[in-house]
Amino acid sequence: MLVCHCNVITEKEIEQTIVSLLDEDPWQLIVPAKVYHAMHKRGRCCGCFPNVVETIIRVTEEYHARSKAGGADIVSHLDRVRQLRIQYGNRSRIHERRQAGNRAA
Ligand code: FES
Repeated sequence: MLVCHCNVITEKEIEQTIVSLLDEDPWQLIVPAKVYHAMHKRGRCCGCFPNVVETIIRVTEEYHARSKAGGADIVSHLDRVRQLRIQYGNRSRIHERRQAGNRAA
């Protein structure tokens, strides 16, 4: 079934790309742009992205259901996420508006 009409990408091609990404790192965050980048494509109208997100969720769930990953791996992933939070800090505390003493000119 054709999922992306702009790039002429089938659902099967998207599924295969997601599995190959999961083979590299089973706990990475996969988004449509990452899938298209791996396929050397890019979103044009991006109307297919909601369907690609659904495919990512379905394929990832099936992949982990097939894998023998146990609770220890999941804890390890959560530790990695916490480590990234420490590394990059909590961005929600930083506001991006102009500082009070900042002048444009
Ligand atoms: S349908 Fe996929 S980018 Fe337009």
